[in-house]
Amino acid sequence: MGTEEQSENGGGVATASDTLSITDNRTGQQYEIPVEDGTIRTMALRDIKVSEDDFGLMGYDPAFLNTASTRSQIGYIDGDAGILEYRGYPIEQLCEKSTYLEVAYLLVHGQLPTQPQLDQWVHSITMHTFVHENVKKFVEGFRYDAHPMGMLLASTGALSTFYPDAPEVKDEAIRYSHVIRLIAKMPTLAAFAYRHNMGQPYVYPDNELDYPGNFLSMMYKMSEIKYEPDPRLSRALDVLFILHADHEQNCSTNAVRAVGSSQVDPYSAVAAGVAALYGPLHGGANEQALRMLRRVGSVDNIEDFLKGVKDGKEKLQGFGHRVYKNYDPRARIIRNHLDDVYEVTGKSPLLEIASELEKRAMDDEYFTSRKLYPNVDYYSGLIYEAMGLNAGMFPVMFAIPRTSGWISQWLEMIDDPEQKIARPRQIYTGARNRDYVPVGDRS
Ligand code: SDX
Repeated sequence: MGTEEQSENGGGVATASDTLSITDNRTGQQYEIPVEDGTIRTMALRDIKVSEDDFGLMGYDPAFLNTASTRSQIGYIDGDAGILEYRGYPIEQLCEKSTYLEVAYLLVHGQLPTQPQLDQWVHSITMHTFVHENVKKFVEGFRYDAHPMGMLLASTGALSTFYPDAPEVKDEAIRYSHVIRLIAKMPTLAAFAYRHNMGQPYVYPDNELDYPGNFLSMMYKMSEIKYEPDPRLSRALDVLFILHADHEQNCSTNAVRAVGSSQVDPYSAVAAGVAALYGPLHGGANEQALRMLRRVGSVDNIEDFLKGVKDGKEKLQGFGHRVYKNYDPRARIIRNHLDDVYEVTGKSPLLEIASELEKRAMDDEYFTSRKLYPNVDYYSGLIYEAMGLNAGMFPVMFAIPRTSGWISQWLEMIDDPEQKIARPRQIYTGARNRDYVPVGDRS
């Protein structure tokens, strides 16, 4: 590849030698395809034909293992080095020095806020934490033991019906009001789902508390006049929210972008993200990791359990990642906050199993050869369990902060001149030109 000048956004600028020379051996034709930012435009392959009426070549990439779907300036991951940055700021610095709402501002606006900007942002979000009273009625419609992610999925999508201007996605002021509403209301919807599961009355937002403290109040307030959140729990929750806010083009963000590309309202697009995060391979992994630790039950059972994993009988939940082929930096930060939480809640016996299981897996060539390291979900479940949450709430705790990442990616997609409605191609392998057979003649 030729020398590249760095463009202002850090991407490479293609030079004459930045091309791919392709020879189509079917025709002997030669093609020169530009290489930009380490990619080729797949549409360029369509010029490679065997005849004039040939459709041309396509790329084939199930699960998009090697396909960039967008240019983005929001989340940056270096999987080999275990690096995660939001708008260029290392996650470690944001966890140490920032708050979730400040990070949400950074993700949405691209810059850290000045104090007046932060004050206005926090005020706007605080003033939008309430949901329409009708929301309580349809949450009541769920069985008492409905999975809270199913309730959150439904209530997030239902919010689109309360705001007639929600579909006006091209109006900057209108869509910004819904960015605020989504970030503000997700904790309320999450807490309502939890209180419904617990058979307890809903707790309205307390606008005198900060974002994590208000969430704890809506979750745990009982007969006391005012809930006083423990600052150690509030801080641990705020760090967890920061860690889960964005992760470039993960499964649920891809869902938000794909559904949002139809220009549906942002509540429906974010509901698609909630649906994707519901899956055990994505947001449901923290729930599966805790269930796995409970199944292991004792340090003495670890050896047999790991043998079962290597025999393909089950997965090592909370391990492995499509991008990180090193330790997920988020897992390390969460592990460090566990002790603060246990100071308040008391230590879980599962921590000893989790630590020993991690140690044995990291010393085992089966896992290190597959680059299987703990990911964000391995330890987060232990914090949520310590906070008294049922496992079904764990992916809900993921969805709350990921809303700021989803909505930032949605905004970027809406304004991206290169984007249009997402509609992939396929390789058709089915039957063709079959004639209808009346039911009486079918064998
Ligand atoms: C999240 O994308 C994101 O950014 C997601 C996320 C985010 O913030 O949005 O980081 C959050 O979803 C983290 C991942 C949470 N999921 C889990 O912890 C579930 C357990 N992990 C896996 O299912 C798996 O590791 C994935 C889904 C996370 C990644 O799967 P890949 O990249 O498709 O890798 P793979 O399935 O092709 O695995 C490669 C090999 C295979 O072995 P072989 O067939 O080559 O012998 O590793 C094995 C897999 O069987 N493998 C595992 C394993 N994960 C992969 N074996 C045992 N236990 C595991 N956890």
